[in-house]
Amino acid sequence: MGSGRGSNYAALAEAIKRGELHACIALVLSDVQDSGILSLARANGHEARFIPPGSKRTVLSPEAEQDFVAAAQNSGADLIVLAGFMRVLKPGFLQHFPRRVINIHPSLLPQFPGLRAWEQALSAGVSETGCTVHLVDEGIDTGPVLAQARVPVLLGDTPETLHKRIQKEEHRILPVAIADYWQKINFS
Ligand code: GRF
Repeated sequence: MGSGRGSNYAALAEAIKRGELHACIALVLSDVQDSGILSLARANGHEARFIPPGSKRTVLSPEAEQDFVAAAQNSGADLIVLAGFMRVLKPGFLQHFPRRVINIHPSLLPQFPGLRAWEQALSAGVSETGCTVHLVDEGIDTGPVLAQARVPVLLGDTPETLHKRIQKEEHRILPVAIADYWQKINFS
């Protein structure tokens, strides 16, 4: 599920194509009709659907929540990956997929949860930040951590240069973290 450019979706699709992640993408869902993630998914031949999110900016409406639940359940997906999904998921969604929803966040959680974490890192003046793959619970970016990668904050970094450096690591660790987690819940 995503709302934006879809570069993490693309990284997953490529890892699958390269045989590094033994998975298939059952469905791509978005709350943004003209999002990059939907265009990329359609171009790759993956089923991709826009579901209207309702009128609130940060959460799904109760009807939309039910539509997302039904679409995810009907897709037969074993795991749900939030690859830049910008609305907060509530128990009405999460209760249907316990320990099955994974998020990628652009900071070293628990530092800098919430929006535009790379800008938070720049404002805080830290010398290092990174990205985190974690299970989604009912808090905001608070669930158990599955994987992290560090990147330096360099002199002269802009929000764009720093986010780009973080995203490079996101694309590397997300497929690996998904494969490791699947292995862990099924074979250990
Ligand atoms: C990523 O930086 C991710 O950490 C955050 O949203 C962004 C999504 O980027 N949750 P993309 O749409 O995958 O390019």
